[in-house]
Amino acid sequence: MSRRRRIYEGKAKILFEGPEPGTVIQYFKDDATAFNNKKKGVITGKGVLNNRISEYLMTRLAEIGVPTHFIKRLNMREQLVRQVEIIPIEVVVRNVAAGSLATRLGLEEGERLPRSIVEYYYKADHLNDPMVTEEHITAFGWATIPEIDEILNMSIRVNDFLSGLFLGIGLKLVDFKLEFGRVFDEDQDMIILADEISPDNCRLWDVKTNEKLDKDRFRRDMGRVEEAYQEVARRLGILPED
Ligand code: C5P
Repeated sequence: MSRRRRIYEGKAKILFEGPEPGTVIQYFKDDATAFNNKKKGVITGKGVLNNRISEYLMTRLAEIGVPTHFIKRLNMREQLVRQVEIIPIEVVVRNVAAGSLATRLGLEEGERLPRSIVEYYYKADHLNDPMVTEEHITAFGWATIPEIDEILNMSIRVNDFLSGLFLGIGLKLVDFKLEFGRVFDEDQDMIILADEISPDNCRLWDVKTNEKLDKDRFRRDMGRVEEAYQEVARRLGILPED
Protein backbone atom coordinates (compact mmCIF):
# COMPACT_ATOMS: atom_id res chain seq x y z
CA MET A 1 0.00 0.00 0.00
CA SER A 2 2.76 2.42 0.93
CA ARG A 3 4.46 2.15 -2.48
CA ARG A 4 1.57 3.79 -4.19
CA ARG A 5 0.80 7.45 -4.26
CA ARG A 6 -2.13 8.33 -2.05
CA ILE A 7 -4.37 10.83 -3.81
CA TYR A 8 -6.99 11.37 -1.15
CA GLU A 9 -8.13 9.92 2.16
CA GLY A 10 -11.82 10.20 3.01
CA LYS A 11 -13.85 9.00 5.96
CA ALA A 12 -14.44 5.46 4.67
CA LYS A 13 -12.08 5.16 1.70
CA ILE A 14 -8.58 5.92 0.48
CA LEU A 15 -7.84 6.70 -3.15
CA PHE A 16 -4.50 5.66 -4.64
CA GLU A 17 -3.07 6.39 -8.04
CA GLY A 18 -4.06 3.60 -10.44
CA PRO A 19 -1.80 1.52 -12.71
CA GLU A 20 -2.92 3.31 -15.90
CA PRO A 21 -3.49 7.01 -16.50
CA GLY A 22 -7.12 7.86 -15.85
CA THR A 23 -7.54 5.09 -13.25
CA VAL A 24 -7.69 5.18 -9.46
CA ILE A 25 -7.65 2.45 -6.80
CA GLN A 26 -10.41 2.74 -4.22
CA TYR A 27 -9.47 1.15 -0.87
CA PHE A 28 -12.38 0.44 1.49
CA LYS A 29 -11.63 1.03 5.19
CA ASP A 30 -13.50 -0.35 8.20
CA ASP A 31 -13.76 3.16 9.65
CA ALA A 32 -17.24 4.56 10.07
CA THR A 33 -18.26 8.12 10.79
CA ALA A 34 -21.64 9.74 11.26
CA PHE A 35 -23.07 13.17 11.94
CA ASN A 36 -20.33 14.84 9.88
CA ASN A 37 -17.47 13.15 11.74
CA LYS A 38 -18.83 13.82 15.26
CA LYS A 39 -19.29 10.08 15.80
CA LYS A 40 -16.44 7.78 14.87
CA GLY A 41 -15.98 4.04 15.05
CA VAL A 42 -14.83 0.89 13.36
CA ILE A 43 -17.12 -1.75 11.88
CA THR A 44 -14.93 -4.83 11.53
CA GLY A 45 -15.08 -6.26 8.03
CA LYS A 46 -17.18 -3.39 6.65
CA GLY A 47 -14.59 -2.46 4.00
CA VAL A 48 -14.54 -5.99 2.59
CA LEU A 49 -18.34 -6.13 2.45
CA ASN A 50 -18.80 -2.67 0.93
CA ASN A 51 -16.17 -3.41 -1.73
CA ARG A 52 -18.16 -6.49 -2.75
CA ILE A 53 -21.61 -4.92 -2.45
CA SER A 54 -20.61 -1.83 -4.44
CA GLU A 55 -18.95 -3.98 -7.12
CA TYR A 56 -22.13 -6.02 -7.44
CA LEU A 57 -24.52 -3.06 -7.63
CA MET A 58 -22.35 -0.99 -9.99
CA THR A 59 -21.98 -4.02 -12.30
CA ARG A 60 -25.74 -4.61 -12.38
CA LEU A 61 -26.29 -0.91 -13.12
CA ALA A 62 -23.72 -0.94 -15.95
CA GLU A 63 -25.63 -3.89 -17.45
CA ILE A 64 -28.75 -1.75 -17.78
CA GLY A 65 -26.75 1.07 -19.36
CA VAL A 66 -25.96 3.33 -16.40
CA PRO A 67 -22.34 4.44 -16.91
CA THR A 68 -20.26 3.98 -13.75
CA HIS A 69 -16.65 4.47 -12.70
CA PHE A 70 -16.25 0.80 -11.69
CA ILE A 71 -13.70 -1.18 -13.72
CA LYS A 72 -12.87 -4.26 -11.65
CA ARG A 73 -12.36 -5.50 -8.12
CA LEU A 74 -8.68 -6.06 -7.37
CA ASN A 75 -8.82 -7.82 -4.00
CA MET A 76 -10.83 -7.97 -0.79
CA ARG A 77 -10.57 -4.26 -0.05
CA GLU A 78 -9.69 -2.60 -3.35
CA GLN A 79 -11.30 -1.87 -6.65
CA LEU A 80 -10.03 -0.20 -9.79
CA VAL A 81 -12.18 2.70 -10.92
CA ARG A 82 -12.03 5.45 -13.51
CA GLN A 83 -10.61 8.75 -12.42
CA VAL A 84 -13.31 11.40 -12.49
CA GLU A 85 -13.65 15.07 -11.72
CA ILE A 86 -16.09 14.74 -8.86
CA ILE A 87 -19.18 16.94 -8.99
CA PRO A 88 -19.44 18.46 -5.50
CA ILE A 89 -23.06 17.39 -5.03
CA GLU A 90 -24.54 14.53 -3.04
CA VAL A 91 -27.76 13.33 -4.64
CA VAL A 92 -30.18 11.76 -2.19
CA VAL A 93 -33.18 9.80 -3.50
CA ARG A 94 -35.94 8.93 -1.04
CA ASN A 95 -38.87 6.53 -1.26
CA VAL A 96 -39.86 6.32 2.41
CA ALA A 97 -39.66 9.01 5.12
CA ALA A 98 -36.58 8.54 7.33
CA GLY A 99 -33.53 10.35 8.65
CA SER A 100 -33.15 14.05 8.02
CA LEU A 101 -36.33 14.30 5.90
CA ALA A 102 -38.49 12.82 8.66
CA THR A 103 -36.90 15.22 11.17
CA ARG A 104 -37.08 18.32 8.99
CA LEU A 105 -40.70 17.90 7.88
CA GLY A 106 -42.04 16.19 11.01
CA LEU A 107 -42.92 12.98 9.15
CA GLU A 108 -43.28 9.62 10.77
CA GLU A 109 -40.32 7.40 9.97
CA GLY A 110 -41.50 4.62 7.67
CA GLU A 111 -44.25 6.65 5.96
CA ARG A 112 -44.18 5.93 2.21
CA LEU A 113 -43.67 9.20 0.33
CA PRO A 114 -46.34 10.26 -2.23
CA ARG A 115 -43.62 9.82 -4.84
CA SER A 116 -39.85 9.45 -4.90
CA ILE A 117 -38.08 12.66 -3.95
CA VAL A 118 -34.63 13.74 -5.15
CA GLU A 119 -32.59 16.18 -3.07
CA TYR A 120 -29.19 17.77 -3.64
CA TYR A 121 -26.61 18.59 -0.97
CA TYR A 122 -23.47 20.65 -1.53
CA LYS A 123 -20.41 18.62 -0.51
CA ALA A 124 -18.75 20.88 2.07
CA ASP A 125 -17.94 19.35 5.45
CA HIS A 126 -17.24 22.74 7.04
CA LEU A 127 -20.83 23.78 6.16
CA ASN A 128 -22.38 20.41 7.14
CA ASP A 129 -23.30 19.60 3.51
CA PRO A 130 -26.19 22.08 3.12
CA MET A 131 -29.20 21.19 0.99
CA VAL A 132 -29.24 23.16 -2.27
CA THR A 133 -31.47 23.39 -5.33
CA GLU A 134 -30.75 23.14 -9.06
CA GLU A 135 -30.65 26.93 -9.03
CA HIS A 136 -27.65 26.98 -6.68
CA ILE A 137 -25.94 24.17 -8.57
CA THR A 138 -26.16 25.87 -11.94
CA ALA A 139 -25.72 29.45 -10.67
CA PHE A 140 -22.49 28.59 -8.84
CA GLY A 141 -21.30 26.44 -11.73
CA TRP A 142 -21.01 23.14 -9.79
CA ALA A 143 -22.73 21.50 -12.77
CA THR A 144 -24.30 22.79 -15.98
CA ILE A 145 -28.02 22.57 -16.73
CA PRO A 146 -27.56 19.58 -19.12
CA GLU A 147 -25.34 17.89 -16.53
CA ILE A 148 -27.86 18.27 -13.72
CA ASP A 149 -30.63 16.99 -16.06
CA GLU A 150 -28.46 13.95 -16.77
CA ILE A 151 -27.75 13.45 -13.07
CA LEU A 152 -31.46 13.63 -12.23
CA ASN A 153 -32.40 11.14 -14.99
CA MET A 154 -29.66 8.72 -13.94
CA SER A 155 -30.62 8.98 -10.26
CA ILE A 156 -34.26 8.11 -11.07
CA ARG A 157 -33.15 5.14 -13.19
CA VAL A 158 -30.84 3.94 -10.43
CA ASN A 159 -33.69 4.23 -7.93
CA ASP A 160 -36.15 2.30 -10.13
CA PHE A 161 -33.65 -0.47 -10.79
CA LEU A 162 -32.25 -0.79 -7.27
CA SER A 163 -35.70 -0.61 -5.63
CA GLY A 164 -36.70 -3.66 -7.68
CA LEU A 165 -33.42 -5.46 -7.13
CA PHE A 166 -33.64 -5.05 -3.35
CA LEU A 167 -37.34 -5.88 -3.21
CA GLY A 168 -36.46 -9.18 -4.88
CA ILE A 169 -34.33 -10.08 -1.85
CA GLY A 170 -36.83 -8.85 0.73
CA LEU A 171 -35.34 -5.40 1.30
CA LYS A 172 -36.98 -1.99 1.08
CA LEU A 173 -34.77 0.71 -0.44
CA VAL A 174 -35.80 3.57 1.85
CA ASP A 175 -33.29 6.13 0.56
CA PHE A 176 -29.72 6.41 -0.69
CA LYS A 177 -27.01 8.83 -1.71
CA LEU A 178 -25.19 8.95 -5.03
CA GLU A 179 -22.19 10.89 -6.28
CA PHE A 180 -21.33 11.61 -9.88
CA GLY A 181 -18.16 12.56 -11.72
CA ARG A 182 -17.17 14.04 -15.06
CA VAL A 183 -14.95 12.18 -17.51
CA PHE A 184 -13.65 13.26 -20.89
CA ASP A 185 -14.65 10.53 -23.32
CA GLU A 186 -14.55 10.45 -27.10
CA ASP A 187 -14.03 14.20 -27.29
CA GLN A 188 -16.90 15.05 -25.00
CA ASP A 189 -17.61 15.43 -21.32
CA MET A 190 -19.70 12.67 -19.86
CA ILE A 191 -21.27 12.17 -16.43
CA ILE A 192 -20.79 8.79 -14.75
CA LEU A 193 -21.79 7.30 -11.42
CA ALA A 194 -18.89 7.41 -8.92
CA ASP A 195 -18.11 6.71 -5.24
CA GLU A 196 -19.84 3.58 -3.87
CA ILE A 197 -23.29 2.11 -3.28
CA SER A 198 -23.42 0.16 -0.03
CA PRO A 199 -25.23 0.01 3.32
CA ASP A 200 -23.03 3.00 4.29
CA ASN A 201 -25.04 5.23 1.97
CA CYS A 202 -28.36 3.41 1.57
CA ARG A 203 -31.15 2.78 4.05
CA LEU A 204 -32.29 -0.82 3.66
CA TRP A 205 -35.10 -2.28 5.76
CA ASP A 206 -36.36 -5.82 5.84
CA VAL A 207 -39.70 -5.83 3.99
CA LYS A 208 -41.50 -7.94 6.58
CA THR A 209 -40.06 -6.74 9.89
CA ASN A 210 -38.69 -3.27 8.98
CA GLU A 211 -35.44 -4.30 10.65
CA LYS A 212 -32.70 -1.85 9.66
CA LEU A 213 -29.83 -3.43 7.74
CA ASP A 214 -27.67 -0.35 7.16
CA LYS A 215 -25.52 2.32 8.74
CA ASP A 216 -28.37 3.58 10.94
CA ARG A 217 -27.45 0.66 13.23
CA PHE A 218 -24.11 2.42 13.80
CA ARG A 219 -25.56 5.96 13.88
CA ARG A 220 -28.12 4.93 16.51
CA ASP A 221 -25.97 2.48 18.50
CA MET A 222 -28.31 -0.39 17.69
CA GLY A 223 -25.58 -3.06 17.67
CA ARG A 224 -25.08 -5.94 15.23
CA VAL A 225 -23.82 -3.54 12.58
CA GLU A 226 -21.41 -5.91 10.86
CA GLU A 227 -24.06 -8.65 10.88
CA ALA A 228 -26.48 -6.28 9.11
CA TYR A 229 -23.97 -5.58 6.31
CA GLN A 230 -23.28 -9.31 6.06
CA GLU A 231 -26.98 -10.02 5.76
CA VAL A 232 -27.27 -7.61 2.82
CA ALA A 233 -24.31 -9.32 1.10
CA ARG A 234 -25.77 -12.75 1.89
CA ARG A 235 -29.13 -11.88 0.35
CA LEU A 236 -27.35 -10.51 -2.73
CA GLY A 237 -25.60 -13.88 -2.94
CA ILE A 238 -22.10 -12.39 -2.62
CA LEU A 239 -21.02 -13.04 0.96
CA PRO A 240 -17.20 -13.23 0.85
CA GLU A 241 -15.72 -16.51 2.10
CA ASP A 242 -14.34 -16.43 5.66
O1 C5P B 1 -29.38 11.69 6.78
P1 C5P B 1 -30.31 11.65 5.62
O2 C5P B 1 -31.68 11.17 5.95
O3 C5P B 1 -30.35 12.97 4.86
O4 C5P B 1 -29.67 10.58 4.60
C1 C5P B 1 -30.34 10.18 3.42
C2 C5P B 1 -29.57 9.03 2.78
O5 C5P B 1 -28.34 9.49 2.26
C3 C5P B 1 -29.23 7.89 3.75
O6 C5P B 1 -29.34 6.65 3.06
C4 C5P B 1 -27.79 8.17 4.14
O7 C5P B 1 -27.10 6.96 4.40
C5 C5P B 1 -27.24 8.83 2.88
N1 C5P B 1 -26.21 9.84 3.16
C6 C5P B 1 -24.89 9.58 2.87
N2 C5P B 1 -23.92 10.52 3.11
C7 C5P B 1 -24.24 11.72 3.61
C8 C5P B 1 -25.59 12.02 3.92
C9 C5P B 1 -26.56 11.05 3.69
O8 C5P B 1 -24.56 8.50 2.38
N3 C5P B 1 -23.29 12.63 3.81
